[in-house]
Amino acid sequence: MRTIAIIGAGNMGGSIARGLYMSALGKQYQLVVCNRSQEKLTALKSALPTIKTCTDNQEAIEDADIIIFAVKPWLMEKVITNLKIKKEAVVASVAAGIATQTLASWTSEEQPIIRLMPNTAISLFESITLLATYHTTQEHVDEMLALFDELGVAILIEEEKMGAATALASCGIAYAMKYIQASMQAGIEMGIPAKQAQMMSAQCVKGAAALLLKEENHPSAEIDKVTTPGGLTIKGVNELDHRGFSSAIIKAILASNK
Ligand SMILES: NC(=O)c1ccc[n+]([C@@H]2O[C@H](COP(=O)([O-])OP(=O)(O)OC[C@H]3O[C@@H](n4cnc5c(N)ncnc54)[C@H](OP(=O)(O)O)[C@@H]3O)[C@@H](O)[C@H]2O)c1
Repeated sequence: MRTIAIIGAGNMGGSIARGLYMSALGKQYQLVVCNRSQEKLTALKSALPTIKTCTDNQEAIEDADIIIFAVKPWLMEKVITNLKIKKEAVVASVAAGIATQTLASWTSEEQPIIRLMPNTAISLFESITLLATYHTTQEHVDEMLALFDELGVAILIEEEKMGAATALASCGIAYAMKYIQASMQAGIEMGIPAKQAQMMSAQCVKGAAALLLKEENHPSAEIDKVTTPGGLTIKGVNELDHRGFSSAIIKAILASNK
């Protein structure tokens, strides 16, 4: 059985552990989860009984074929350089903004490196996970794509696009939430109870996304279907444009790519 070690059991490391534990492919691996402090490990172990947990990073990676680092970006260098990593282990990192070449400079130029950028929907198997690689074989890439495809959708991209893609796909989840939050506020002002407003707004966004993902239609084609000439929806859509909605979204995503 191959082993995956996850270093850092916070929001992202914990979500990846939960997702892998539940997924068909992830079940075929021994998971070892390591964290600086014990509390999160105790909670994870009670939810995922067959994982191994520890607070010693070196112990965690000893038998690992894949090591996923999920600590804050500013801790990465110290955490990685403190370890003796076997040269054939795949070093994967979810740390935002840290390039594969930087990771290689902290391990070795020969180390297979995979940079991963999931979003928080990974815990519900609905992440879009971006991968960029350095010094990997096709087998390494296929294995990682297959593992993260089970936690949503995983795609390989060129590393120079990682900043832009992160703004779109990882930060983007916050912008989608902002739309839901704002539309809830409108619903509440019109007298709809908050819980119902949230359900309506979130399900509406889920439906819109499903139409685009399943039918592979362009958003304009789907908008065209609901904007009857002289109708109410076109009034709202035009109001969004008068108020700079598209421009605000574009500027937000460009700002996240700095
Ligand atoms: N959250 C997101 O939406 C998101 C999305 C994409 C990528 N990421 C990336 O994911 C990484 C983790 O972010 P997060 O939001 O999951 O942070 P987090 O919730 O703070 O989790 C980080 C975990 O790392 C542990 N840790 C710190 N130092 C350690 C060490 N020396 N050895 C082992 N464990 C250590 C912390 O333990 P303690 O409990 O002791 O503090 C904590 O549980 C970041 O690099 C971030 O860029 C996050």
